[in-house]
Amino acid sequence: MHPTLVLIGFMGCGKSSIGRRLAYMTGHRFVDTDELVVQREDCTISEIFALGGEQAFREVEHSVLAELVGTIGIVLATGGGAILREANRNLLHEIGIVVWLDAHPDVLFERATRGNRRPLLQTANPRESFDTLLSSRRSIYEATADFRIESSYLDHDEVARTVLEKATALHATRLAAP
Ligand code: S3P
Repeated sequence: MHPTLVLIGFMGCGKSSIGRRLAYMTGHRFVDTDELVVQREDCTISEIFALGGEQAFREVEHSVLAELVGTIGIVLATGGGAILREANRNLLHEIGIVVWLDAHPDVLFERATRGNRRPLLQTANPRESFDTLLSSRRSIYEATADFRIESSYLDHDEVARTVLEKATALHATRLAAP
């Protein structure tokens, strides 16, 4: 059985599209924390931010993550800020192998602003907000991940194959550890 995979990374890094490919390749179920939050609250992420602010969103995000512990056979895509709480970082490791999908900031920015739906980038200067957030989070992604994949120059299938190879090798090493 393939290991459970947890994808972390900044907005626009491809967690959902690569996660769906990984789910297809492994036979696992694809789960997206943002989608679970939206289902639970029955409103969009922008509406949650508008009504209760980022804090309200983070509370629901934490509670959907906590409920996923113990679920096997999934590929989990997390929201870009799911790594901000230490409690969440611990939960992510309980859920599965934690993979950081990274890309060049220009690539991330272009993808993250497509569709114009991310509340944290609805500011007077989206690029400045993006750069500030990214630089405050990079070290957290790095410290949280079991490994990092740089995806700027790879297509989604190549990224998914690389993730699966590395995660399978790591999983085997862990199973073999005394
Ligand atoms: C967020 C990223 C979003 C979503 C919310 C907050 C963040 O998810 O969870 O808008 O704090 O970076 P994506 O990374 O899937 O865009």
